[in-house]
Amino acid sequence: MLGSEVSYAEKSLKGRTSYSEGRFTGVVKELFPPSHVLLPQINQIYELDLAWGEYNKLDGPAVISRGAYFRSVEGLDTHHYKICMRTPDQVNASARQSRKNFFAANVFAVGYATHGLFPYRGKFHPQMVKAILNIMGLAPGKKVLDPMAGCGTVGIEASIMGIDSVTNELSPFACLMTRAKIGVLETDCRAFGRLRVEAREIFDALEKTFDHRRGRRNLIDEDAQAPLRFSAADSDGKILASLPQSLLELLTLCFLDSVGYAERRANKTPRDLFPDVLGRYLDAVEAFNGSRRELGLKVGKASTLRGDARHLKLEDVSVDGVLFSPPYSFAIDYLENDRPQLELMGVEVDDLRAEMVGLRGEGRNEEQRVAARLREYFDDMRLILSECSRVLRSGCYCTVVVGSNTNQTGGITLEDRLIELGESAGLKLQFQIMREIEGIRNTMREEYLLFFKKE
Ligand SMILES: C[S@@+](CC[C@H](N)C(=O)[O-])C[C@H]1O[C@@H](n2cnc3c(N)ncnc32)[C@H](O)[C@@H]1O
Repeated sequence: MLGSEVSYAEKSLKGRTSYSEGRFTGVVKELFPPSHVLLPQINQIYELDLAWGEYNKLDGPAVISRGAYFRSVEGLDTHHYKICMRTPDQVNASARQSRKNFFAANVFAVGYATHGLFPYRGKFHPQMVKAILNIMGLAPGKKVLDPMAGCGTVGIEASIMGIDSVTNELSPFACLMTRAKIGVLETDCRAFGRLRVEAREIFDALEKTFDHRRGRRNLIDEDAQAPLRFSAADSDGKILASLPQSLLELLTLCFLDSVGYAERRANKTPRDLFPDVLGRYLDAVEAFNGSRRELGLKVGKASTLRGDARHLKLEDVSVDGVLFSPPYSFAIDYLENDRPQLELMGVEVDDLRAEMVGLRGEGRNEEQRVAARLREYFDDMRLILSECSRVLRSGCYCTVVVGSNTNQTGGITLEDRLIELGESAGLKLQFQIMREIEGIRNTMREEYLLFFKKE
């Protein structure tokens, strides 16, 4: 950002720099000493609950380096505040006003670092993840697992905090998102000027590569540990040949984003949209890497696995914490949402469906279908929670975030059933926090953060 230019984040804050004009001023004064100043944009009680949890777990310097809900301690700005204040514009100029409003109202919650790249439905609020990791007692040197990682929010946030992570996910496209968003947290941005100028050539080279590979299967290795099999060698473009794997993965994600975005826009082709989307991606990566250098952040090591959470390819007692959010019964069809990207990647969507939690279960009528799906869902969740317990070290937390979806379950509350399943897998519920879900597209009214501990 140039000297006097006002940043996107500053504009979004409209002059509010701390919580002091917030909703629960009296309560906040009772809870926190004057040395600990909360961030603005805290509107819900669960956020206060998480801030309180952080305050109890972390000393002052740790709140500064790892806290999620604080603006400053003893007058020193937190890393979270500084990283978020660099957040560049999150949405394209032509995006719907509601989308723009959402990002403006959530500067500290969602779009910072690389979290805002590619809109993945049903992803975690990264700020909430940061606080949960703190409350679980995870710090640099520890390792966290997300067995159903989606677009990798837990892995990204852990890396930012210097915590190691292993993320597991069934969808190869979600694995690509995770790898792309984590891989550029520590990157050399000097080539970005050239990438911006050559955006259209890059698009053409990527398109040609995808054309070459049409009909061939999975671009991602079976275990997603090895670099993406899609490599510059597939492409005619010299432009791609010189780039490191992490940038290649970012550009691939950007390409797939433009393709999906163009499907929703009748009058634009992916090639028209690519330069803008790429510009936003590079801005976000540059902004975070600027913060990383300025704050001297040591990014945590991350590994990505492609696999089934019911049978994790991990050793017994090998992680210090588990944090995840399973599908909320069958609320979202993740495969259908990502079909254009999965098909371009050569994935047989219907093969994948057979292993997806929440998407299996047939019946002759709606009632039988719901009953069959629920049975499958709870059988799957029993296996997943046992796997989480198996790989977790004793005395460590496994935190599950789940929406209270009674609409599609004939009245059964998911959170209660998951508590039973967790406890029978050796995970004892310690406490829970309820979060009201905002947003018009959600059929669920609330979400539960269930903090289990392995006995
Ligand atoms: C609620 S989303 C997780 C979102 C994630 N917390 C994030 O921040 O992006 C649930 C994820 O579970 C994945 N999933 C479904 N069945 C799976 C399985 N058997 N093994 C691993 N992942 C699975 C879905 O692809 C989906 O990405």
